[in-house]
Amino acid sequence: LDNGLAETPPMGWNDWNAFGCSVDQQLVEQTADTLVSTGMRDAGYQYVNIDDCWALPDRDVNGNLVADPQKFPDGIAKLADYVHARGLKLGIYEDSGTRTCSKSGGFPGSLGHEQQDARLFADWHVDYLKYDDCNVPADGQNVDATIARYKAMRDALTGHGIVFSICEKTDFGVPNSAWPTVGNLWRTTGDIHDNYARMVSLFHTNVTLPDLAGPDHWNDPDMLEVGNGGMSDVEYRSHFALWAEMAAPLIVGTDVRTMSAATKEILTNREIIAVDQDPLGAQGRPVSSANGLWVLTKPLVDGSRAVTLFNETDAPATITTTAGQVGLGKAFDYEVRDLFAHTTSESAGRITAALPAHASAMYRISPSRRLAQPHVVVGLSAV
Ligand code: GLA
Repeated sequence: LDNGLAETPPMGWNDWNAFGCSVDQQLVEQTADTLVSTGMRDAGYQYVNIDDCWALPDRDVNGNLVADPQKFPDGIAKLADYVHARGLKLGIYEDSGTRTCSKSGGFPGSLGHEQQDARLFADWHVDYLKYDDCNVPADGQNVDATIARYKAMRDALTGHGIVFSICEKTDFGVPNSAWPTVGNLWRTTGDIHDNYARMVSLFHTNVTLPDLAGPDHWNDPDMLEVGNGGMSDVEYRSHFALWAEMAAPLIVGTDVRTMSAATKEILTNREIIAVDQDPLGAQGRPVSSANGLWVLTKPLVDGSRAVTLFNETDAPATITTTAGQVGLGKAFDYEVRDLFAHTTSESAGRITAALPAHASAMYRISPSRRLAQPHVVVGLSAV
């Protein structure tokens, strides 16, 4: 969606993965404070997003949505002020059907109220809307009707400066050429779960869709589980590296107030964040994936490549590729920056890593400046 609001993939936090329906004002405020005090804001995490279950079960007499006063005693507008005062932005959640997705019966959906709800969010100074797709009418479950529902909200949001995050459920994994003009990001998969097999299956789907992604329009393989306890730190490093390699939105889904040092180190790895946020906006592509040994390459704006080597398998393995295979031109020598170890080495073109099961290495590779020889061409003249 060409609105200039997501020129790089959105980065932030959302309560759903760690808290489910238990969201409230205190959690959002404390998270905002923590994003600042931990340096996460300065590393790029900008949005503090409220997911489902923030509203009262019914609209008021004027048909307006109402924030549950028990959960949000000061209301959403005040909360937006609080978040903005800390240099952050506020996100909220709604649904394109009649009720939201929550299993507890749901909260009012925006179907038929798109203009009214968009105006309310704008009045509250909300900056980001995650728009879900549960409880849609029986005749509205096909792709065309789904796109029409999302366009109605997109149009209602026009001019309000609100990032539009699509969470539709009709055609996951099917390249849908409509989404890049409808949303700033769209889910490509069902919900993530905090386990390795599920994370990998979402990666498998999202990695096939690089042609859809670019500035202001991103594939969304769902929010991060890093730090939630269901995977090892090795697996969480792979999760983070793969999402950055795919230029995915980086929406943290853990309790940052209590995160471990290892979680913080993964989430604030600025060299990996820079790959995700590279202004060229290219999603990384597979070079090879035989037997679960992945090589992925992502062109970066300075002409270098971000290369992820991912050992999907349950046994240790060595993965090898070359500068040529990852798309770099012939050079005398290459500079290989290890984005986890934060060290630099030189290579004549071979890139290799011995990886434990489920582990990844991530490199930024460029033709070496230090050793590059000027090519002196003697005896040739331009015709
Ligand atoms: C759906 C979405 C989730 C979350 C829940 C809330 O399942 O995909 O990300 O927003 O709804 O009910």
